[in-house]
Amino acid sequence: MAKESKRAIYPGTFDPITLGHLDIIKRGCKIFDEIVVAVAKNKEKNPMFSFEKRVEFVKKATRDLPKIKVIGFEGLLVDLSDEVDSNIIIRGLRAVSDFEYELQMGYANASLKKDLETIYLMPSLQYAFISSSIVRAILKYRGEVKHLVPKEILKDLKCM
Ligand code: PNS
Repeated sequence: MAKESKRAIYPGTFDPITLGHLDIIKRGCKIFDEIVVAVAKNKEKNPMFSFEKRVEFVKKATRDLPKIKVIGFEGLLVDLSDEVDSNIIIRGLRAVSDFEYELQMGYANASLKKDLETIYLMPSLQYAFISSSIVRAILKYRGEVKHLVPKEILKDLKCM
């Protein structure tokens, strides 16, 4: 029986991508044939890094992962799901504190497109405390982030 190829979308602001994000991406690679990592423009979140830089950082961090395609997007996730022809969204879930936000977003997306499924993956315990906002807070004061972000983007972050 021919196996149908399974594609999922991993959306986020990635401001910047962290080792926690990368852990979720690698877990997703064990389940799916292709993962479209979709970097949201998210102007309303006032990102620290430009849209172009965030896309570039995700590309650099995932360049050795053959199942990954990186794109930037603006607009609704449900529209992107039509464009890339995938009804599966991956989101990372670290702690109870993430749950409320994820629940609301998952239901909002499902209300717009009933076929959309969101699956939640937990990162390894060692990455459970990492968030882009922690990384930004440390970077602001020129602190060490090498244990928090992919090595491929470390130089770029330090030059900013
Ligand atoms: O990494 P983040 O900031 O938690 O990711 C949030 C993201 C990009 C998944 C969310 O902002 C999003 O889906 N943006 C697209 C707009 C959209 O579809 N909104 C409706 C669902 S709330």
